[in-house]
Amino acid sequence: MEELHKAAKVAFASTFSFYLKAHNFHWNVEGSDFLEYHDLFGKVYEEVYESIDDFAEKIRSLGTYVPGSFTRFSMLTQIEDETNILAKEAMVAELLEDNEKIIKILKLVFQASEAEQEYGFSDFIAGRMDAHRKHGWMLRSSLKNG
Ligand SMILES: [Fe+2]
Repeated sequence: MEELHKAAKVAFASTFSFYLKAHNFHWNVEGSDFLEYHDLFGKVYEEVYESIDDFAEKIRSLGTYVPGSFTRFSMLTQIEDETNILAKEAMVAELLEDNEKIIKILKLVFQASEAEQEYGFSDFIAGRMDAHRKHGWMLRSSLKNG
């Protein structure tokens, strides 16, 4: 169970970092297609943010505490922080790369969850993988002919 707890916390912290980066890009994107990119990042951050509370409470239900501070997030996250203001295409490319990382992290949590026969949690994680697959599709498509 300890392995599942640890993997779930890493996935949660990484998801929160991913959410924050998408929101940051939504706020700071610039360029001729501003509205398209602003909305693309908006769609991503809103969907991920909506999953955060449920994610946290499901981790609590597994019988462990959930990280909820910037210090803990920065200790656990596998998503690198972005402090520069990037060009819009670079924002999309970076978020796409991070999104792939999130899917890999979620797969590890899924495996740990299955090993513990926590099928309800596995189901939630599978749903998050689906959601991130869709984010990947949207981000990748907007890079084409970019
Ligand atoms: Fe907004």
